[in-house]
Amino acid sequence: MLDVVSKAFFHTLAGSSTLKKMASRYGVRPNGAGFARRFIAGETIEEAIAAARAIQASGMLITLDQLGESVTTAAEADAATREYLALIDQIAASGIERNVSLKLTQLGLNIDRATSVDNLRKILEKADALGFFVRIDMEDSPYTDVTLSIFETLWQHDNRNIGVVLQSYLRRTEEDTRRANALGARVRLVKGAYNEPRTVAFQHKSEVDAAFVRVTERLLKDGVYPAIATHDEKMIEATKSVAARLAIPKDKYEFQMLYGIRRDLQAALVAEGYRMRIYIPFGPEWFPYFMRRLGERPANVGWVMKGILSER
Ligand code: FDA
Repeated sequence: MLDVVSKAFFHTLAGSSTLKKMASRYGVRPNGAGFARRFIAGETIEEAIAAARAIQASGMLITLDQLGESVTTAAEADAATREYLALIDQIAASGIERNVSLKLTQLGLNIDRATSVDNLRKILEKADALGFFVRIDMEDSPYTDVTLSIFETLWQHDNRNIGVVLQSYLRRTEEDTRRANALGARVRLVKGAYNEPRTVAFQHKSEVDAAFVRVTERLLKDGVYPAIATHDEKMIEATKSVAARLAIPKDKYEFQMLYGIRRDLQAALVAEGYRMRIYIPFGPEWFPYFMRRLGERPANVGWVMKGILSER
């Protein structure tokens, strides 16, 4: 219950443009300063690539996300598309792993489906040519159907270097998992980060967690190289034990975590020989992402306040 209240509170704050303006001035500053830095790799591609290099040097895999979402004009969607094209070029030139994540509302899904698909196709054309893997993040439930439908359309048109995200809090996800497995598509499983109504989503952590374990088993049994994306030790232990029971080798799936969260656990899993991919978010549009991270764990607010107070 507390989870739901806290999520709702931070989602409301995430919509505040005054707060966003204030936070943007101090949250992510050059040279590693700023209270949001724990979760955001920086505002520039160069900072994100530097963070990626450090993470790769510690034996982990990476995916880069140029933050942005919910754009409402074709010009903004166009700009986001150009940013991704530039990002892909810079990643390729840098020699780091070729893997990015993106959101369809960043590419114009709120304008119409065709705009976002056109923009995504432009990105995939370059990404494919350069051997990238592109993960389409999952947003809130009004976008679930259309996101999966766009994913499937591209998949049927032979775009195979793409993956999708499913959220265990959604009641529909077990069915979506069966469908993704039947396609042979790569799924990232998460619990889900948005504030969803009970009609579509489980409201209690115990139900979300139970669904997470059920879907993990489905993905490990019938899926293709699934990504189990969580910082929850119980979910990680459950994944390990299902994989051991099904005799699934450690290179047939991966764990994923967010930049700056449970770095101790990230390192421990790598030391045990598991694959660990870190999702590295960056860019000037970091505010809504940052607020979702606060909402997941209100204790982070104390941590952020300490950061603000120690800043000059
Ligand atoms: P849970 O929230 O139960 O947390 C378990 C434990 O993890 C906590 O007790 C704490 O120790 C730690 N923890 C979790 N969140 C923390 C935080 N913010 N700060 C500090 N500690 C924290 N969601 C979505 O809807 N669409 C998407 O596309 C994605 N993509 C995505 C990619 C990757 C790589 C990850 C890891 C996560 C996502 N998510 C996401 C977010 C996901 O849905 C979920 O909101 C967060 O991962 C938090 O859930 P946990 O599984 O970690 O469990």
